[in-house]
Amino acid sequence: MTRLAVVVGSTRSGRAAARVGEWVLERGRALVPSSVELDLVDLAEVGLPLLDEPAPAIRGEYVHEHTRRWSAIVAGYDGFVFVVGEHNHGYPASLKNALDHLFAEWNDKAAGFVGYGVHAGGAVAIEQLRVVLGELRVATVRTSVRLAVGVEVPVDGAVVAGERAERSLAMMLGELVSWAEALRGVREGVRS
Ligand SMILES: Cc1cc2nc3c(=O)[nH]c(=O)nc-3n(C[C@H](O)[C@H](O)[C@H](O)COP(=O)(O)O)c2cc1C
Repeated sequence: MTRLAVVVGSTRSGRAAARVGEWVLERGRALVPSSVELDLVDLAEVGLPLLDEPAPAIRGEYVHEHTRRWSAIVAGYDGFVFVVGEHNHGYPASLKNALDHLFAEWNDKAAGFVGYGVHAGGAVAIEQLRVVLGELRVATVRTSVRLAVGVEVPVDGAVVAGERAERSLAMMLGELVSWAEALRGVREGVRS
């Protein structure tokens, strides 16, 4: 079984992230093979405080229970779909905080993106996130989904993605599944 998490990155009240995450989960489950499990991981439910671990995550010396809980969640997945709303040409601080809490749990895994924003479908936020994920040894796939806030992501109500977005989602998930499965071999090689 290959396990993928749809990570809902924005935690602010009134966020669109929860609705976009639901769309990714529902459409994504219909698109991935039956050997792939797709779950929702909502950072609002994970409830991490601002990073308060005394040692850098690369040392893996977690003193807080919330970090150990987050570590167990991330360690259980082979890959991630980051749901990324654009905040001032970046991705939400809540997502950066969640990434910074861990290190080894992200290593040699794959990620894809579903971005959304009013200007360019979250494209700038996605590109920033790729840089940070590179440092965490996460391989990011080429294709991303980019949704227009106010059109495909209404201010209220469910996502109304068109054919272009549906095609991008299918392509991104295809790339993600093959890389997530290939990188499992890399992780096993690193451990042996
Ligand atoms: C603090 C903040 C900054 C924003 N900056 C941008 C931006 O730089 N580019 C953009 O396309 N949209 C921007 N927006 C609009 C967001 O993309 C839109 O509100 C989206 O719903 C945010 O994701 P969220 O609702 O899941 O938090 C911004 C929104 C917020 C709250």
